This record gives sequence, C-alpha cells and structure tokens, in this order.
Amino acid sequence: MDDRRLSHPTEHRIRLTDGLAPNHQMTIDGQPTATHPWGDEASPYIQLGGDHAVNALANSFYDVVEESSPTLQAMLPKNTVNTRRKFYMYLSGWLGGPPLYEMKWGHPQLRRRHMPFPIGAEEAAEWMRCMREAIAREEIGDPLASFLDSRLSPLADHMINK
Ligand code: HEM
Repeated sequence: MDDRRLSHPTEHRIRLTDGLAPNHQMTIDGQPTATHPWGDEASPYIQLGGDHAVNALANSFYDVVEESSPTLQAMLPKNTVNTRRKFYMYLSGWLGGPPLYEMKWGHPQLRRRHMPFPIGAEEAAEWMRCMREAIAREEIGDPLASFLDSRLSPLADHMINK
C-alpha cells in the first residue's frame, strides 16, 4: 500500500480513518452483503489507494463515458461535475471506506434513483464496459480488478428496469 496516496488532502472534513475498519461491510443498494467480502484483508478502498485513488477512478469512468459512450452520455447532464462527485462519494463507502454519499444524502436507494432512466441489459453492459476501461486506465491490477468486476456486474444488472 502506498501511504502517500492516503495522505492526499481532501476537500471534505471527514477524517480518512473514519469507516476504515477492515470489516466495514460492502453493500448492494444499502443492504449489507452476507459476508465481509474481504474477510481479514484490507478493504478494497485501502487496496486501491484510498480517497485520491477512488476519486481518480470515478473521474476516469466519466472520462471514458464522455469519450466513447453516446448511449450513456445521452442520459447524463452536459456538465458531469456533480455526477462525478456523487459517484466518487458512493464508491468511497461501497469499497469499504468513509461512507461519504450516505453521510451527505442518506440511503443511496440506487435502483430507485435510476428509475427515470431506461436501463436494459445493453445499457448495463455498456456501463460495465466503461467501468472496465476506467479500471484499466487507473492501472488497477488483479486480484483487485477481477474482484471489482465480479462485484460491479451484479450491481449494474440490479439497475435494469426495462
Ligand atoms: C447499469 C447501468 C447504469 C446506468 C445506465 C446509469 C446511469 C446513471 C445516470 C443517468 C445517473 C444520473 C446522473 C445525473 O443526473 O447526474 C446515474 C446516477 C448515479 N449512478 Fe448510475 N448508472 C448505472 C449503474 C450504476 C452503478 C452500477 C452504480 C454503482 C456502482 C451507479 C451509481 C450511481 C450513483 C451513485 C449516482 C448518483 C445518484 C444520485 O443522484 O444521488 N450507477 N446513473
């Protein structure tokens, strides 16, 4: 683990150590998964490199969307600053780090929040394609990359509403 990345200054006032217990549970739509997926290992948040790395991943995802996915871009506002920020805050908690999204906006209710957008199997696959490309751009290697893939795929499918 690269400690320098964890000491990156953050805009929010939450201490970086908040919510970092290794057994902080990963959730799907706010529901804890049955087991701590990473057991006694460091959380994916720590393995990834902490706050700075999570923010970079969220930004890379929307960079990929804007560069290569007219399908997803059509659903998004022209300016994605707020979308990027919300995604970063969500990922922080989802990866086992500080639950920034919940602290600011409460329960994510992700599926409900995605209802205004028609999401089918194609859109979910397209979302995963962009996410995989972002993971590659951030040079996240295995086993973390495969772990993220295996956990994000069902979450993307969970958003299918048409
Ligand atoms: C399955 C395909 C998906 C599509 C097509 C999709 C599309 C969208 C769209 C159009 C928005 C609204 C953006 C805005 O108005 O600024 C949004 C918001 C969001 N998405 Fe997704 N999304 C998908 C999957 C996911 C997944 C798997 C996650 C979590 C890992 C996720 C996390 C979020 C979050 C946190 C927000 C912000 C919610 C809020 O408004 O508070 N999305 N998504």
